[in-house]
Amino acid sequence: MSKKIAFGIDIGGSGIKGAPVDLATGEFAEERTRIPTPDPSTPEAVAAVLLELVDTYDLPADAPIGVAFPGPIHHGTVRFIANLDASWAGVDIPALVHRATGRHAIAVNDADAAGIGELRYGAARETDGVVLVSTLGTGIGSALFVDGALLPNTELGHLEIDGYDAEKRAAESARERENLSWDEWAERLQRYFAVVEDLLSPDLIVVGGGVSKKHDKFLPKLHLRAPVVAAQLRNAAGIVGAAALAADSAALAALAAGGTPTEGTAVNGSPALGTAVDGTAPTVGTVD
Ligand code: BGC
Repeated sequence: MSKKIAFGIDIGGSGIKGAPVDLATGEFAEERTRIPTPDPSTPEAVAAVLLELVDTYDLPADAPIGVAFPGPIHHGTVRFIANLDASWAGVDIPALVHRATGRHAIAVNDADAAGIGELRYGAARETDGVVLVSTLGTGIGSALFVDGALLPNTELGHLEIDGYDAEKRAAESARERENLSWDEWAERLQRYFAVVEDLLSPDLIVVGGGVSKKHDKFLPKLHLRAPVVAAQLRNAAGIVGAAALAADSAALAALAAGGTPTEGTAVNGSPALGTAVDGTAPTVGTVD
């Protein structure tokens, strides 16, 4: 039997990464491709990169595309953007991707995508209770789950802590920019996660982003009530989660086109992860 594939794309401040994902395992079906983020990173310039990424692979004609984007996504549309060109605000990403590639596409916040990747295939697999997945990169992303259901677009990296936008002090980019030692950076992370923990009382905190591969340098220095673990999918989580959501959305759209599925039916995953039975998604945008 051929593998069920969806294509995941993770748009970041410095690179745009994509890979076909084998949905049975949550692993890349082929090696990932990375293209530097264009400067300026306008929607048109990025759409050209997305097409180039998709064209790199010999994808099945019906393979849907999931785009993980570094800003809050409300019904497919970017609300605001901290780390890419300001002209992204108000852009309908699934429509943009559909125009560029002709494929069914969904868009989801990058940290929410990473959280879904970790929840389905990684460090938070089958974990109930309140789970916080936090990504440390150019910014700080957050994905918050309650018993497997995502509360989308939580944006905890923009909490104001000690008079600062939290990600400006505690993101991985702050460590690099200010040349902080691991101890110095861990102190900032400790402050950030202590505030978040006081607000939300998570049962588990999963720390992702590229720096999570060096987790032994900073995670043991954190002292929180909840267990803190490194993301298992590391930086692949966004691509994998976005691809999984795209597959859900495409399957639901196909079901809706051919008949009404039983209410509450989960297609290839949980009904609680931002998909809707009629093929539209309340928290991730979709275009056929
Ligand atoms: C954005 C979030 C994003 C995070 C990580 C923040 O600046 O506002 O939406 O998830 O960076 O990319």
